Amino acid sequence: MCGIVGYVGPRQAVGLLIEGLRRLEYRGYDSSGIAVLNGSGLAVVKQSGKLSALEQRLTEYTPKGTVGIGHTRWATHGPPTTGNAHPHVDQSGKIALIHNGIIENAGAIKKVLEQRGHTFKSDTDTEVLAHLVGVCYRGSLEEAVAEALREVDGAYGIAVICSDEPDVLVAARKGSPLLVGVGDGEWFVASDASAILSHTRSVVYLDDGEMVVLTRKGYHVRDLAATRIEKPVNQIEWDLATIERGGYAHFMLKEIFEQPDTVRNTMRGHLLEEEGTARVSGLNLTDDDIKRINRIVITACGTSWHSALIGEYMLEELARIPVEVEYASEFRYRNPVVDDRTLVIGISQSGETADTLAAIREAKRRGARTIGLVNVVGSTIAREVDGGIYLHAGPEVGVASTKAFTSQVIALALITLRFGRLRNLSILQGRQIIQGLRALPEQVQEILDRAPEVEALAERFWRSNNALYLGRGVNFPVALEGALKLKEISYIHAEGYPAAEMKHGPIALIDENMPVVFIAPKDAVHGKIVSNVEEVRARGGQVIAIKNDGDDQIKRLASATFTIPETLDLLTPILAIIPLQLFSYYVAVRRGCNVDQPRNLAKSVTVE
Ligand code: G6P
Repeated sequence: MCGIVGYVGPRQAVGLLIEGLRRLEYRGYDSSGIAVLNGSGLAVVKQSGKLSALEQRLTEYTPKGTVGIGHTRWATHGPPTTGNAHPHVDQSGKIALIHNGIIENAGAIKKVLEQRGHTFKSDTDTEVLAHLVGVCYRGSLEEAVAEALREVDGAYGIAVICSDEPDVLVAARKGSPLLVGVGDGEWFVASDASAILSHTRSVVYLDDGEMVVLTRKGYHVRDLAATRIEKPVNQIEWDLATIERGGYAHFMLKEIFEQPDTVRNTMRGHLLEEEGTARVSGLNLTDDDIKRINRIVITACGTSWHSALIGEYMLEELARIPVEVEYASEFRYRNPVVDDRTLVIGISQSGETADTLAAIREAKRRGARTIGLVNVVGSTIAREVDGGIYLHAGPEVGVASTKAFTSQVIALALITLRFGRLRNLSILQGRQIIQGLRALPEQVQEILDRAPEVEALAERFWRSNNALYLGRGVNFPVALEGALKLKEISYIHAEGYPAAEMKHGPIALIDENMPVVFIAPKDAVHGKIVSNVEEVRARGGQVIAIKNDGDDQIKRLASATFTIPETLDLLTPILAIIPLQLFSYYVAVRRGCNVDQPRNLAKSVTVE
């Protein structure tokens, strides 16, 4: 999940690299560095801490050069010190390399190199790879990189330069995203398009096992065995404004406020109101294929795993297909029972999460049909699945996922409609769901218009050290997601639980200092949740309730409430999560936390 950017062209590289890193900082931000070829050799500048610390260093000394690489790090091997920051150089000091991923056999390679007299300055696997490229170097960087990569196990996106070849940059990928930006007489590599978008919209996505060689005259793509590969040049459609903050204090707030549009965009073109179903041709599944499916496994990580749980409720309730939701990291290692009648759905905002990708590959290997609900177009998961739905939520930059979550739930509702209508779901029920879906953007807007109410709630509770989130049925995953949002960005310890399960443990924690957030709309289990609220009240807990209009029972019991519009039970998560996202945001801001770049987290986790 580190960020990579590289440049070959007529312009000075350092400014371009820093600009690219600024846009990639969400991928990792514990240290950063650059290397450029300055005519007489390599100039490397690196610095622990945020990118601004590197920029500060560069104001003292800005190396000149028109070929360079830059990196922003999220530590995997060794602490986030300046010494461990990338780029790393080889033993000769001529080759500089940046890396995203993990080299699994780095320990063994290091031992051999040490026996041959190599000395290492860092704790990183990346430095070992730089040395290995150096050992393989016999006058061609391209060949040296290919040879070295044939020796390593693990995942990587790398970019490498060498002072003996001042016009060349070599990059390669296996398991970590990498693309080539094709400019006008200049070329870039980057771990995602946002890094280079202000210079070109033409990109070539590299696939696993591919290398690219950039020179001042152009580029070519090949595999590790030297076979040339023709790759299509894709045009990026979104523009820079969409990845900038547009007047909001933080990306997270901007992304929360974009949800009326993003929710609309996810369903756009998919709803067939007359037939009470959804058109999702991207799934690449015929009616017969869908009828043959007798089990669904949904696999994901983090927030995407929470939307998967909501999908389980939807699909089982309305399509009557058994659904299992599994953390991708568990699925891939547990010998799952999957066959050609199983549909495996991978959900991922980034489309690059290593565990989700591995789970999808494992499912394919076992003969399952795979589909992806992915936001980032052209991402690895999107390209590897048999079919899928793009979320069209636009780039999500804030590390804590918000708009991707609501779009994922919409995409799951589309699948539910399509599958349900081929099974038990009546046309009338289908139409009702479509009407519910169509009403959501305005209902979300209605909630956002009352953001100051949530801000006032945050003002009351921001000093708490713990919080409990409780919900039942389809709102149990909302409780999990609400708690995750709070802990991710405000560092308050928060747990989500099914409301009734509270009696089996968490109730012991409840006292007058414990805010307990209930998601309590007027749904089929409302009566039950009222009893749970009573139980918390009886122990002095401070109840914050998300409720519907006119619910006086909950209003009487709660210390604070926030009202959300009514919708179908199964669609409530999309409305209930909005005030919880806002609540976490305002609490984190009040506590002085770095909302968009919370400590230790990364937006896209491309390592296991
Ligand atoms: C990281 C992010 C989370 C995200 C999770 C899964 O942990 O910080 O916000 O939910 O990865 O990411 P994905 O891109 O696969 O949805």
